[in-house]
Amino acid sequence: MGSSVLIVDDEPSVCQLLSNRLKHEGFQCRTCSSAEEAAGLAQEKAFDVVISDLRMPGISGLDLLEIVRKKHPRTAFLMVTGVDDVRVGIDAMKRGADDYITKPFQLDGVIAAIERALQRKRLEIEVETYRENLEQMAEQRTKQLHIAMKRIEGTYDETLEALGAALDLRDTETEGHSRRVSRCCLEMAKKMECTGEQLKQIARGSYLHDIGKIGIPDAILLKPGRLTEEETAVMQTHARVGYDLVSRIAFLAPAAEIVLTHQEQYNGTGYPQGLMGQEIPLGARIFAVADTLDAMTSDRPYRRALSLAVARAEITRESGRQFDPEVVRVFLSIPDHVWEKIRLEVAGARLFSTAIRSAFASTAPSVGLPAEASLVPPRMSEVL
Ligand SMILES: [Fe+2]
Repeated sequence: MGSSVLIVDDEPSVCQLLSNRLKHEGFQCRTCSSAEEAAGLAQEKAFDVVISDLRMPGISGLDLLEIVRKKHPRTAFLMVTGVDDVRVGIDAMKRGADDYITKPFQLDGVIAAIERALQRKRLEIEVETYRENLEQMAEQRTKQLHIAMKRIEGTYDETLEALGAALDLRDTETEGHSRRVSRCCLEMAKKMECTGEQLKQIARGSYLHDIGKIGIPDAILLKPGRLTEEETAVMQTHARVGYDLVSRIAFLAPAAEIVLTHQEQYNGTGYPQGLMGQEIPLGARIFAVADTLDAMTSDRPYRRALSLAVARAEITRESGRQFDPEVVRVFLSIPDHVWEKIRLEVAGARLFSTAIRSAFASTAPSVGLPAEASLVPPRMSEVL
């Protein structure tokens, strides 16, 4: 079907002339003798082309141009001017007309102008469609990327859980401790304006801080009494052993420095390097406070858990010695209920996983235990 053309001219003979020729060329033509009538028609129907006289009684061709442009930006609009009105024709193009035609008509020229305008519109539509497709494609790819990233994060969590579980098998005391310390570190780190990436590394590094204990012989790791000097030296290698292990895993490499430096003390009396003050990575300085808080408020074979008030007093006393004063300040600003909530949540998760483990062991041993990772809410990526 040919393109639809609306011809607007107050002189019926002009409408007739154009209409006859255009029909002959295969166009579908409608004619109007005023811009008002054309404006009404344009409200109902989108024409491919409008050819309008500039000067008409009532509203002018320029007014009609504005009306048509608003409603149908894809319609090709040709303004008809007298030979003396060329400047007005150019003005019409500035206002959105695609071309202008001068009277008296050269009909071949009119056809060529229409074809040119239609071709231009087609190109505009193609470009617009291409842009829209591109946007859609980019949006789709971004979504796919997010899904892939989420999957990778999930794999990271599972790797962390597996490493943690490996240590738990050797030293059951560390299980809840690692989780609690990691959560406590996050609470403080969030108040210290750490970036999202820093938070991630602090959470991972503090969770794995004692992973090097995997390499410590049972006779030392599980010894109930006091360690000899030699045994202590072996025990202290766990920071370096942990670092060597974790730094080889690409996504954990930035967290490895916390594993290496988690036993350093602010005043330089820690190990393995005896770092001082700001030489110690921020994550490890935060960890030192979280570790003491958790150790003091946990039951030990030789004493019951101490209260948060006692822990607060001890941490305050060690500010500037064992601990970074700035971290201590942030720690003190966090209310007790935050620490209590972390302890309860981690305890709840452990009880839950133990219950599930025994349920599976007694009813369907062949089914096996679902991944421990999925039983330990919240996961690293959920906390962050
Ligand atoms: Fe340690």
